Amino acid sequence: METLIININEDLLEEQLRIPAALLSKGENVAFPTETVYGLGGNAMDERAISGIYEAKGRPSDNPLIVHISDKSMLNQLAVDIQPYAYELMDAFWPGPLTVVLKKNPNVSNKVTGGLETVAVRMPSHPIALELIKLSGVPVAAPSANLSGKPSPTRADFVIEDLNGRVACIVAAGPCEVGLESTVVDVTGAFPVILRPGVITQEQISEVAGYCSVDPALMDKTESTVPKSPGMKYKHYAPDAEVSVYTGDVVKILKLFETLTIDSVKQGKKVGLMLFDEDLLVFKELQKSWLDTWVDQVVICSEGSSKQLDTFAKNLFSDLRDMDSIGCDLILIHGVSEASIGQAIMNRLEKASEGRVYKI
Ligand code: TXA
Ligand code: MG
Repeated sequence: METLIININEDLLEEQLRIPAALLSKGENVAFPTETVYGLGGNAMDERAISGIYEAKGRPSDNPLIVHISDKSMLNQLAVDIQPYAYELMDAFWPGPLTVVLKKNPNVSNKVTGGLETVAVRMPSHPIALELIKLSGVPVAAPSANLSGKPSPTRADFVIEDLNGRVACIVAAGPCEVGLESTVVDVTGAFPVILRPGVITQEQISEVAGYCSVDPALMDKTESTVPKSPGMKYKHYAPDAEVSVYTGDVVKILKLFETLTIDSVKQGKKVGLMLFDEDLLVFKELQKSWLDTWVDQVVICSEGSSKQLDTFAKNLFSDLRDMDSIGCDLILIHGVSEASIGQAIMNRLEKASEGRVYKI
């Protein structure tokens, strides 16, 4: 299949998005940016478009899709029996990176929901996503625009790498601001339950709804509890490199990273380090000359300040993907505590490291 790639700038959106919107309403698949990650869209009410999504991604058909809307008036055709507190959450966080799981309207195909009686819905805040959905005039089902098993794409070049030739159109724009997929919250019960952590935190949801719990399967590192969100049970992206994540005492972590890096480089390996600005300052002050000598063997990604974790969230997937394509053998990551947005960051790092998370 020939893929139409359209590079968009953010003026005159309507004119630039007319063709991709027409493709969507005709049942074709179109990848587009959202504020979280790029999505691969299809008309949620058209089974052919839904099959196209699963096929293009190579995604298991029991893993349901999130339906994206541009206006709350689109909710009624998707969901029924929406609770007052669910509306309060939508009012507080939409448009934005929150997905609500609602009781589904019988109109919605089982193909979208993976056979579940619920449907996941989100109103993204990215102007291109909103305008594209509005112009297409249909709710747009869209999983992340990666091949199944690869990380969610946060830049257009990753989408092109994965989906060129597999979809009708790719709407290419700048990198995604948030960088992690939306928080998925089940709002069908008496109180909200987080099924997938994201940058909208448990505290923020509790503040609006009075209380919020987290699916116990997310906390169970032994993976013996079945998660409520089908997507959370699949093996997620892990780079070819061996990834290890360390949290705890900063001095110990930096000493260990230095020893492991020096040993690995001496064995001819390439090492990737994901560090905070504060860590780099410490290395610089201690005049660690290996940082300058081994520029070809040691790749350093700066994750911003440890006190401001949105940069870490934004860079996480693209840094892992970049370090993988550079050919790093070992990736060492300075982790964070599982509070607030740290819960979402550590959830993704747990998967990328295949559980190699250590507290020292
Ligand atoms: O930020 C995002 O959410 C991005 C952008 C494109 O919007 N989308 C995204 O979609 O991450 P996807 O398909 O990669 O992840 C959707 C997650 C999966 O874990 C899926 O199992 C879960 O949402 N999900 C979808 N429908 C559900 C439902 N009815 N009940 C429980 N979990 C559901
Ligand atoms: Mg995904």
